[in-house]
Amino acid sequence: MPNVVVVGLQWGDEGKGKVVDIYTQFADLVVRFQGGSNAGHTIIVDDVKTVLHLLPSGILHQNKICVIGSGVTVDPDILWQEIEAVKQSGHLSDESLLRISYEAAVISRYHKALDDASEQSMGERKIGTTKRGIGPSYEERVARRGIRIKDLLSRKTLEEKLRHNLKYANFLLKEYYQVSDTFSVEDELDYLCEFGKKLKPFMEDTSLLVYSEIKRGRNVLFEGAQGTMLDLDYGTYPFVTSSNTIAGAASTGTGVGPGMIERVLGIVKAYTTRVGMGPFPTELEDEVGQRLRDVGKEYGATTGRPRRCGWLDAVLLRYALRLNGVTNLALTKLDVLTGLPKIKICTGYKYQGKIYDEYPYSETVFNNSEPVYEELAGWSEPIGEIRDFDELPAAAKRYVRRIEDLAGIKFSFVSVGPKRGDSLVLRNPFRE
Ligand code: IMP
Repeated sequence: MPNVVVVGLQWGDEGKGKVVDIYTQFADLVVRFQGGSNAGHTIIVDDVKTVLHLLPSGILHQNKICVIGSGVTVDPDILWQEIEAVKQSGHLSDESLLRISYEAAVISRYHKALDDASEQSMGERKIGTTKRGIGPSYEERVARRGIRIKDLLSRKTLEEKLRHNLKYANFLLKEYYQVSDTFSVEDELDYLCEFGKKLKPFMEDTSLLVYSEIKRGRNVLFEGAQGTMLDLDYGTYPFVTSSNTIAGAASTGTGVGPGMIERVLGIVKAYTTRVGMGPFPTELEDEVGQRLRDVGKEYGATTGRPRRCGWLDAVLLRYALRLNGVTNLALTKLDVLTGLPKIKICTGYKYQGKIYDEYPYSETVFNNSEPVYEELAGWSEPIGEIRDFDELPAAAKRYVRRIEDLAGIKFSFVSVGPKRGDSLVLRNPFRE
């Protein structure tokens, strides 16, 4: 059976948590490979809602090995809170089922202060980050000064790194950003060493672990966070996150070679949302946008911020399919569109009389173009109870089929409601 990467094809919040949760039944390992506690994966099982930021969604299943790979940046405080919360709800009774890469990056308190100060200083140019310290932690890593999970085990190594890093961070905070809070080496050292002790039993050479498990014939699901348009290189730069979010990152973020990953399951929501700043051609700043936000409960799982809402953008979808090499496609939140008399799909961008049907490399074109829309009829019948694709209202089927035509790929999965069971599974990405 193949190994699968699950990625979001828009600006995050496509409903990956639910899809990963469902497909976990076919996997033996669930592996996070990038991002950190900026992610918020919402899963509803038996009417109980769980929001996970760092733990792989597979943690809510029995006997799955859940891995936090080297490409993830770990806030040990948030991770520890999540570990305690899932244990309290009766999961993770066997601690050996959660493995954290020795190489994963670490977020401490000063990274969050830097994230906050940087955003405040940017005024109009701010990114609208989650303020979870993601950017500053990855910056440190790229600057080759980063603190890694294994460093939490050695007070001496950690002290050396903190002395160096805090000299720089405190200078930035005090002199450049001119905010009052600076951090002492002793305090940060005690804080991080404490988590080192708590997290030690979970640390492992996860590249070796995942490799060995694959060699034994076990099945891996690589769980992406955020979405393609937030990718550091290929997204709407600079309004992106600080990691690569596309499927290729599953390899670099785990230390598992690309030849061992066979399939890419892309998740697309039936409409588009984005949190934070940055261009969004199909954004609806009217009552339809508000309706999508209300019915789709489009408020950030991590920050609670209202998400910006708009129509599905097939140009971005095709761009994302290409970047990720998507082999299987899942559609989420189709039910949210119920009751809309008309539904639009963006099939191109118009700029200075020219139509672009591929994602334009030019920010000027992308930021200033008008979406070209195709209009389809809506449906009014509730679809949340439907379990057979053929029983969907004709207009809903037409909408789904039209997306398939534009994407050039058929759906493996269509979600018609928030719960695990509210799903039409059309094909299994591990088999077809
Ligand atoms: P950061 O990742 O906190 O640095 O934020 C950078 C951008 O990515 C901001 O626009 C955030 O709102 C966005 N972002 C980060 N994580 C997520 C996510 O999980 N879902 C949606 N947007 C996200």
